[in-house]
Amino acid sequence: MNYFLQIYGTLPRAGPGSNALTRKALALIPHLPDSPRILDLGCGPGMQTLELLRLSNGTVVALDFLPEMLERVKAAAQNAGLSERLEIVHQDMNRMDFPEGVFDLIWSEGAIYNMGFENGLKKIKKLVKPGGYVAVSEAVWLQPDPPAEVLEFWREYPEIDTVAAKLEIVKKIGYEVLGHFILPPTAWTEAYYDPMEKRIAAKAGAWRGIPEAEAVLQEARKEIAVFRKYPDYFSYAFFVMQNGA
Ligand SMILES: C[S@@+](CC[C@H](N)C(=O)[O-])C[C@H]1O[C@@H](n2cnc3c(N)ncnc32)[C@H](O)[C@@H]1O
Repeated sequence: MNYFLQIYGTLPRAGPGSNALTRKALALIPHLPDSPRILDLGCGPGMQTLELLRLSNGTVVALDFLPEMLERVKAAAQNAGLSERLEIVHQDMNRMDFPEGVFDLIWSEGAIYNMGFENGLKKIKKLVKPGGYVAVSEAVWLQPDPPAEVLEFWREYPEIDTVAAKLEIVKKIGYEVLGHFILPPTAWTEAYYDPMEKRIAAKAGAWRGIPEAEAVLQEARKEIAVFRKYPDYFSYAFFVMQNGA
């Protein structure tokens, strides 16, 4: 496993979120079929994949382009006795080959940005049934005029914007907004940055003097430091929407 994955690929989650927030987002959906077909895009280690399996009586198709992540989802579902309703798809989300209109619900926590928010929502609209649902979490500004350090950190994702601007995009594409909410700071720390800090501490000694490994640790420390210093400036927001028929 490369150095990046030895840090980011071993945490309970690979981005902000929690089971409670997955449940809160799912509760915004008024009606799902008895056995919905759900696509979990960029599933990562699969905390939300398992929660979706537990909460629905449906099939969850977990898609990621990292085999290491898919292995973790598979193992977790087996341990939880949920693997019969899990399907694993090793694919790039930018090159998905599902037939049109096959999913009742498309879910993506902290991963739609890999297609771009607008581009991604447009593309997955074709895959979700007319009247079906989409729920995604996406990076948002919480305040205007973020400090330079924060802007620098987010330079790699210029699509980060206000909740209002994101909602405009959602509506423009032709979805009806069912609800939205901001992820609280605990969603970043409990299953993501706190365990990441422990992982960094566990690896720091052994990786000393290996430039590639130290660079990974340095990036991770920087990411955590920016969040801990400026939690009031940015977060993720969940957006739950319905595909216009
Ligand atoms: C920030 S993580 C979020 C993972 C998970 N949803 C969670 O909240 O813990 C993003 C995930 O998307 C996956 N990913 C990134 N780019 C991708 C792509 N082009 N196609 C498929 N998966 C991708 C990564 O491997 C990673 O598991």
